[in-house]
Amino acid sequence: MVGDMCFLYKDILVIKPPKKSPMLLRMAVFMFSMVSVVSIFYVCIKQIGTEARTMFTDFKVIGNLTQSRVKQMNPNILHYPEPLSFSRNECAPNPVMFFAILSNQRSGSGWFETLLNSHINVSSNGEIFSIRERRRNASSILKTLDRVYNLDWLNSASKNECSAAVGLKWMLNQGLMEHHKEIEEYFKRRSVSIIFLFRRNLLRRMVSMLANSYDSHAKLLNGTHKSHVHSAEEADILSKYKPIINSTSLVDDLKDMEMKSATALQYYNSSRHMILYYEDLMRNHTKLNDVQEFLGLPQMELTSRQVKIHKGPLSDHIQNWDDVNNALTGTEYESFLEADY
Ligand SMILES: *[C@@H]1O[C@H](CO)[C@@H](O)[C@H](O)[C@H]1NC(C)=O
Ligand SMILES: *[C@@H]1O[C@H](CO)[C@@H](O)[C@H](O)[C@H]1NC(C)=O
Ligand SMILES: *[C@@H]1O[C@H](CO)[C@@H](O)[C@H](O)[C@H]1NC(C)=O
Ligand SMILES: *[C@@H]1O[C@H](CO)[C@@H](O)[C@H](O)[C@H]1NC(C)=O
Ligand SMILES: *[C@@H]1O[C@H](CO)[C@@H](O)[C@H](O)[C@H]1NC(C)=O
Ligand SMILES: *[C@@H]1O[C@H](CO)[C@@H](O)[C@H](O)[C@H]1NC(C)=O
Ligand SMILES: *[C@@H]1O[C@H](CO)[C@@H](O)[C@H](O)[C@H]1NC(C)=O
Repeated sequence: MVGDMCFLYKDILVIKPPKKSPMLLRMAVFMFSMVSVVSIFYVCIKQIGTEARTMFTDFKVIGNLTQSRVKQMNPNILHYPEPLSFSRNECAPNPVMFFAILSNQRSGSGWFETLLNSHINVSSNGEIFSIRERRRNASSILKTLDRVYNLDWLNSASKNECSAAVGLKWMLNQGLMEHHKEIEEYFKRRSVSIIFLFRRNLLRRMVSMLANSYDSHAKLLNGTHKSHVHSAEEADILSKYKPIINSTSLVDDLKDMEMKSATALQYYNSSRHMILYYEDLMRNHTKLNDVQEFLGLPQMELTSRQVKIHKGPLSDHIQNWDDVNNALTGTEYESFLEADY
């Protein structure tokens, strides 16, 4: 048990200096590494008990490093909110980054958000604008955003006083396109950083959408509709349903999906942003370090309990596979037939 913990401790303590960091910072990283090695030794020798304690020690070391990184960031993107519903107490001097995850349904954003929220300093408040009333007009949207970024939007994801990044998950069809002028102006005025999360394989996205829509009626899991699952058994049951895809309109439908994401990028590309692809995240979890850096966070191992529903070749998941295969062969979307994820 104690051996395991020492291992965990070492794992979390991988500190990388930014590539183009000044000599001084590199020295600092080196010094911290030395301090860390000494403290690992100390922790292992002393056999200090709880995981929480170990985590706490980590944060002191890595947190300091990130604070120096945060200092190099443009001060305009850092905020010091003063929430009405509670006091930030000892974390009041820590800056907070504002962010929004812009995505489409069935593109891994639910999974991505649980990963982010496993970070001790992130409050990503979910799909706030799935409620129609909140996106009825631009002013109700901006009022809702004000509350989120003032840390006054309280739910289970809120880390309250010690949030270092606060935001939400927002689907493109939830007012982002209709009210893009006002929202883009708001994002720029309040320096909100955008994480675009897209899925490259839109055919897989289509399968996931059709299956999810089917399950909202069929309720395959003991009469409960689930969009995300936490076990291989549940994933198996949900993936047994194979949708039929309209092969006549398929190419046009894929074009539409592509167009929509491209338009959103155009609307919002003058805000500080990064583009993330679901497939890249699946393949390479270290992409999450880029996200944490983008958000000015202390680096942490992020975890999610969610399990992927549709695994393996697409031909196993589409009822009229031959039609779909014929419709896409020889088109610009042919690669969607083969690609994994
Ligand atoms: C944090 O870094 C500063 C230099 O930027 C250093 O003076 C200070 O001792 C460090 N604090 C800890 C707890 O390592
Ligand atoms: C915007 O919608 C809210 C309800 O969500 C309504 O109370 C308000 O009057 C609307 N404002 C405008 C300018 O239409
Ligand atoms: C992150 O949260 C921890 C625990 O609440 C806190 O001690 C730390 O100062 C926070 N870090 C930042 C950068 O806000
Ligand atoms: C459905 O219910 C049965 C009996 O309560 C249980 O054994 C099974 O694990 C449940 N299956 C799922 C997918 O929730
Ligand atoms: C498939 O798409 C075509 C072209 O948009 C449409 O005419 C047809 O009704 C669709 N078929 C089904 C079964 O929805
Ligand atoms: C934003 O998009 C437009 C149109 O696609 C492009 O010309 C411009 O270079 C982009 N700007 C940035 C900052 O990416
Ligand atoms: C994984 O992602 C990291 C961070 O973006 C990158 O530096 C690395 O080259 C990637 N590894 C692979 C195997 O693609």
